[in-house]
Amino acid sequence: MTARIALVTGGTGGIGTAIVKRLANLGHRVATNYRNEEKARDWQQRLQAEGYDITLVKGDVSSPEEAEVLVREVERKLGPVDILVNNAGITRDTTFHKMTPQQWNEVINTNLNSVYNMTRPVIEGMRERKWGRVIQISSINGQKGQYGQANYAAAKAGMHGFTISLAQENARFGITVNTVSPGYIGTDMVMAVPEEVRNKIVAQIPTGRLGSPEEIAYAVAFFIPDEASWITGANLSANGGQYMGW
Ligand SMILES: NC(=O)c1ccc[n+]([C@@H]2O[C@H](COP(=O)([O-])OP(=O)(O)OC[C@H]3O[C@@H](n4cnc5c(N)ncnc54)[C@H](OP(=O)(O)O)[C@@H]3O)[C@@H](O)[C@H]2O)c1
Repeated sequence: MTARIALVTGGTGGIGTAIVKRLANLGHRVATNYRNEEKARDWQQRLQAEGYDITLVKGDVSSPEEAEVLVREVERKLGPVDILVNNAGITRDTTFHKMTPQQWNEVINTNLNSVYNMTRPVIEGMRERKWGRVIQISSINGQKGQYGQANYAAAKAGMHGFTISLAQENARFGITVNTVSPGYIGTDMVMAVPEEVRNKIVAQIPTGRLGSPEEIAYAVAFFIPDEASWITGANLSANGGQYMGW
């Protein structure tokens, strides 16, 4: 496989770390962003001890200005970005009738507006070079909705609307744009849910277990090689069979 330059947002998180490692294992040069310097350096050292050399760049993806600066910094350090994985995300769960403007806006800004902020500075270069991969990490809850997650589900559904539009605009330029929609994965985000609620979630998953971050990284990597260049605008569900919309 040709070695590419990949930028994974939220690469220090549960799913992000698995994506970063998988892309590095495939021979790509990988960068990710951070907000908290100390936390990020600890993460970088842990990965270094495992043999990974990951480039860290500071920046909040919910800010258009910071997103542009962080992309330019990755370009300066590694070169033009060939693969963008929009993975950074947060939850601010509550039923809609109690949802504050802050809870709504934080989730929309971090999970959806970030996709504009990060993709806008890389897309022109991909079009000029006639090769690119843009992959959104959405969620099963963007496909089926979820009690207490109107903000999150709206943002995650919006990500795939972005995917299928961008895919049409850029298909002639060797750029594919796809979505991976994970089901429930055993990361901090899900382990923070009370155990009894988690048990109820697992009971709804046909495979009878939570997914692993590595299983999501596998789905992301599927879209990258040249053999995948006919696949664009897809929404790949990786959810243990919990939701089988088509
Ligand atoms: N876990 C699941 O079961 C599950 C299921 C479906 C979809 N997903 C999606 O998968 C993605 C990764 O989830 P995860 O479970 O790995 O979450 P996580 O462990 O909480 O990691 C989230 C990452 O995003 C970063 N981030 C958050 N807000 C940011 C911002 N404004 N600017 C820059 N970086 C920001 C975090 O950085 P900090 O350390 O600085 O906060 C962290 O590195 C998310 O988009 C999530 O919605 C997860």
